[in-house]
Amino acid sequence: MRLLTTVSDTQRALDKEREAGRTVGFVPTMGFLHEGHGSLMRRARAENDIVAVSIFVNPLQFGASEDLDAYPRDLDSDLSLCESEGADVVFNPSADEMYPEPNPFTITVGEIGTKLCGRTRPGHFDGVATVVAKLFNIAGPCRSYFGRKDAQQLVIIERLAGALNFPVTVVGCEIVREPDGLAMSSRNVYLNPDERRAARVLKRALDEAEASVRKGERDGHRVARQMATRISSEPLAGLDYASVVDTETLEDLIRLDRPALLAVAAWMGKARLIDNTTVTPTGAPSEGSS
Ligand code: PAJ
Repeated sequence: MRLLTTVSDTQRALDKEREAGRTVGFVPTMGFLHEGHGSLMRRARAENDIVAVSIFVNPLQFGASEDLDAYPRDLDSDLSLCESEGADVVFNPSADEMYPEPNPFTITVGEIGTKLCGRTRPGHFDGVATVVAKLFNIAGPCRSYFGRKDAQQLVIIERLAGALNFPVTVVGCEIVREPDGLAMSSRNVYLNPDERRAARVLKRALDEAEASVRKGERDGHRVARQMATRISSEPLAGLDYASVVDTETLEDLIRLDRPALLAVAAWMGKARLIDNTTVTPTGAPSEGSS
């Protein structure tokens, strides 16, 4: 496994692989890696000749009051995980290497970046899209792997790749959870034991909402309210949003007549946690069909 820190070394190394006819699978991350990241690397390993992972805490996607400086970091442990998952190249640049100019050119995502997490994190998805576009140009991946845990991010990256014609296939991967259902996240280390227990309420709210839809509930607002009520019943949780939206446009779904993304976000102490699930109401066309 090679650890590279410059854009030019990484471009050169991966260009050479593609020129030799080898496919490159790419997993962008912000480090503090866990089994969720591991699952993306395993999928990349299974589907490509070469696996490249980036580890970069991207300042552009953090708001002024967010946890950029406190964001957890552990490069040694990250490199062991990459090694054990069979990564060939790890790209770990400095912020200066990625953004040598004080005012970088940025990508504006538009309306889809203002929904769900974008409401409380203005500019966040512009920062994500900008770094991912740069990383695509650096790694030149054939396939790139993203978790469904960040459902809005995945939708935006799919749009980005299409709109800007990146020759990459964006692959969405299932959410990896702790045994009690909590979605794995680098930010879970912020939780104290009480908050960690309370955090189970997110998955519980999603499960109950999904069960209602399966029983025939078709009113999107009612399902959203049901999730909000469940999360608010947990004294340690501060609800950010509980939404029922179209899986592609992320517009609120008033009537559940097509595949729906049930998405929640809540504060648990210092940590803002997100989770989601997709449900296809019976009788509705399934996801991906038109
Ligand atoms: P990060 O939060 O480190 O996540 C990197 C990738 O791992 C993302 O695609 C994310 O969805 C996925 N992931 C995280 N937790 C997961 C889980 N429990 N199950 C499955 N996949 C999971 O997302 C980012 O970094 C950044 O925004 C990035 C795309 C790297 C751009 O800076």
